[in-house]
Amino acid sequence: MPRLPTYPTIVRQIDPQAPDPQIIAEAAACLREGGLVAFPTETVYGLGANALKERAVRRLFVAKGRPLTDPLIVHIARNEQLQTVARAIPAVAWRLVAAFWPGPLTLVLWRAPAIPPLVSAGLPTVAVRRPSHLVALALLAAAGVPVVAPSANRFGHTSPTRAEHVLADLAGRIEMILDAGPTPVGVESTVLDLTVEPAVVLRPGGVTVEALSTVLGYTPQVLERAAGPVKSPGLLERHYAPAVPLILIEGPAERARAALRQRALALASQGRRVGLLLYTEDQAALGPLPARVVDLGSLRQPEEVARRLFTALRTLEAAGVDVILARSVPDGGLWLAIRDRLRRASSEVVSV
Ligand code: TXA
Ligand code: MG
Repeated sequence: MPRLPTYPTIVRQIDPQAPDPQIIAEAAACLREGGLVAFPTETVYGLGANALKERAVRRLFVAKGRPLTDPLIVHIARNEQLQTVARAIPAVAWRLVAAFWPGPLTLVLWRAPAIPPLVSAGLPTVAVRRPSHLVALALLAAAGVPVVAPSANRFGHTSPTRAEHVLADLAGRIEMILDAGPTPVGVESTVLDLTVEPAVVLRPGGVTVEALSTVLGYTPQVLERAAGPVKSPGLLERHYAPAVPLILIEGPAERARAALRQRALALASQGRRVGLLLYTEDQAALGPLPARVVDLGSLRQPEEVARRLFTALRTLEAAGVDVILARSVPDGGLWLAIRDRLRRASSEVVSV
């Protein structure tokens, strides 16, 4: 195996509300010249590379350990830039752009010739989004080029919602990290395929299906995990897996809680160090258990649960637990994305 060249990864603190133009200029120059810069978006931290430089894009795949068959999302600073990235853009795309950009919605469209095929893993399509995080927008505007940005984690690991997560996965592999603190949404963007009619949600995310349907005029189908051939390689099972096995218990609240308690006690009695991802309501109902508990927030606040989820997984991983237990969540709204990430992080799903 050839050794990877290493880079002294520079971490720059930056104000999420008022990004320092000098730091932005430095990061933008690095990107333009083919460097790799991790930056915050409203969803998760992304690892940016100049989309027009094939060498930079290739380096990005290597740094992440990502297979070349997994296509990337192109990030743009202005809505009009969409025309340079995609072609044959349907009217509905512009209606969605008007409603949800900047924001956590990625549109899959036909790829424009300016975008190297490598970006889309050779597919004739391209995924595009305009993020709303002020640091991301400032960086994209200053770079002046479209920027590919997958989540800034090693391939297969949990997406990063804090700069520390990026550093843990990619230190020495990238030039720079812009650290603006935790990301406000916490789960990745919704990926909507507009090259098919009716449109299909390839990945539930920060924009809910209910919100999409108000603009589409119908409720789009959500591609089920691992159903049939993989249309979006990001939908591979266990894509978001933490390094520790996660057992996900699905079923009505009372039964799932009881099963969770029983499993935790059984595993602990075998000498296993158990990590529990619990909703605030469940902690009260379950009482003390021989486990390391991380609070995911209240079942009444899916936004808070989404924000905490990936950090919670990494916290338990770093705590050195042998196994993580969690229970699934209700349907609808943002819960769809949360449940999707829990399922993909799980090594075993138990229905009760
Ligand atoms: O919120 C997000 O989308 C974050 C931030 C950094 O913007 N990015 C992100 O990128 O999650 P990544 O690479 O981790 O996930 C991109 C997803 C994958 O599931 C990929 O397969 C899918 O988008 N995708 C990209 N291009 C596609 C295409 N042309 N057709 C179908 N799916 C595509
Ligand atoms: Mg990812």
